[in-house]
Amino acid sequence: IPIHVLHGPNLNLLGRREPGIYGTATLDDIERDLRVRAEGLGVALTIRQTNHEGELVGFVQEAGLSGAGILINAAAYTHTSVALRDAIAGSGAVAVEVHLSNVHAREAFRHVSLIAPVCAGIVCGFGPHSYGLGLEALARLLRNRLS
Ligand code: DQA
Repeated sequence: IPIHVLHGPNLNLLGRREPGIYGTATLDDIERDLRVRAEGLGVALTIRQTNHEGELVGFVQEAGLSGAGILINAAAYTHTSVALRDAIAGSGAVAVEVHLSNVHAREAFRHVSLIAPVCAGIVCGFGPHSYGLGLEALARLLRNRLS
């Protein structure tokens, strides 16, 4: 089962960036954990990060064209990007939205996700573990689709 893990803006700084909110785990730490989980789940992972909205749209399109599922932390673009939402909707891919922090316990502008309506589900608030939970949920959805 192919799954593309897409990280949006500022997540390259994870570990150093507002550690009180996002913790001290780095993107490499998260990748290591996901690769271990993916092996157990029989999932083939492609992992990418970008700070650019258009590039993120391109990554979503590529995942869709290759028939992969999408595990996405769109970071700030979650709350602003109609282009990203349209890309996910148009990709035909099954997508799961994840966030490290509990966005609903934070500023009001983070309570709205423009991509949530075009995702199968959302995991937020569990720190790096949000990704692992999201990966398991997405793998299960895709497996059920295939069987
Ligand atoms: C985030 C939450 C977003 O509101 C924020 O803009 C981020 C990270 C999270 O993982 O908690 O950059 O997506």
